[in-house]
Amino acid sequence: LHVTWDMTAAKKGGYPHFMLKEIHEQPESLRNTILPRVQNKLPDFTADNIPDSLFHGISRIIITACGTAMHAGLIGKMMLEKLLRIPVSVEVASEFRYQDPIIDKGTLVITISQSGETADTLAALKLSKERGAATLSIVNVKGSSIARESDYVLYTHAGPEIAVASTKAYTAQLSCLYLLAFRFAYATGKMEKDACIDELQQLLHAVSVLEEVLSQDKIIEEISIQVKDKEDLFFIGRGLDYALSCEGSIKLKEISYIHSEAYAAGELKHGTLSLVTEGVPVVALATQQKVYSKMISNIREVKARNAFVILVTVEDQEAEASIYDYHIVLPKIKDEYAPFPAAVVLQLLAYYTSLHRGLNVDQPRNLAKSVTVE
Ligand code: G6P
Repeated sequence: LHVTWDMTAAKKGGYPHFMLKEIHEQPESLRNTILPRVQNKLPDFTADNIPDSLFHGISRIIITACGTAMHAGLIGKMMLEKLLRIPVSVEVASEFRYQDPIIDKGTLVITISQSGETADTLAALKLSKERGAATLSIVNVKGSSIARESDYVLYTHAGPEIAVASTKAYTAQLSCLYLLAFRFAYATGKMEKDACIDELQQLLHAVSVLEEVLSQDKIIEEISIQVKDKEDLFFIGRGLDYALSCEGSIKLKEISYIHSEAYAAGELKHGTLSLVTEGVPVVALATQQKVYSKMISNIREVKARNAFVILVTVEDQEAEASIYDYHIVLPKIKDEYAPFPAAVVLQLLAYYTSLHRGLNVDQPRNLAKSVTVE
């Protein structure tokens, strides 16, 4: 008996592409990242050798990264600022390294990188160290250059990510940023113990909600068939939904080659609305209760121009059927945690759009998984 053994197919574990496999691995990779950092129901970094003393005396945080890792930073900024009430800025590493950044001993620089080898991110980290910042990195690959250069490392335990388009590393990075915000706030007395325990529970609940959303793939595939031949697509949102829109847009561009833009919904009328015409797809993320009615007004604006609206909301939010063409409803979840399940919707949309355009999902043209050149 002769058995031909296709190593690549075997590694895909029954999935047609690494990307789809990695999207589906997210509940596991998130639990692997979060659970080892839970002690007595609280976030705990003892095993990571990150002492609470690091957080005392930090008056400012700079997050620097490239691509999808930078987009994780945009979400992290909002969570860190909300809980810590100190300024957090997010800098594209290839810009940051050539600026003259203001850094002092009270500055914590967080670098985020899946590979731990991105040249610009590494250079930004080295510059931060030279200028006297404390440095902490969120990295997926053990022992990588960025991990070695950093004072402290918080590893994402996402496992190997093969597809060029990052998915499970992104959500694992988000979970590390949330854990960091919780521990920092708790250690510096900005958050009570019970509140901290509750936030951690919410984070774990977000993982279960994300898992449920994985089963909505049929409707997302149907939407992708509707948008696959379009030339332009817009993602709109407010707050965390805007930060997530940036990631949704890059994911779609990377692997479907459709031009897309992420726009803060309130900015639409300052320019982009002129590009929204009959049939142009607009993915409207409306998961944030706080700004829900504002989002609905923005969606009415694009619908009035006959856009093809794909609306994403959370259960119990009302939306009149006349303002959307497709409606994806996420299970009930608090505003702060909605990016986890909503990210899955955007990842699947990019995946199926690329698939139905007949493209190479895992290895898009011109892009590399790890960019070690400048
Ligand atoms: C490349 C990849 C992206 C990734 C970025 C940063 O451009 O194609 O998916 O987000 O590099 O990579 P890193 O390994 O530093 O997270």
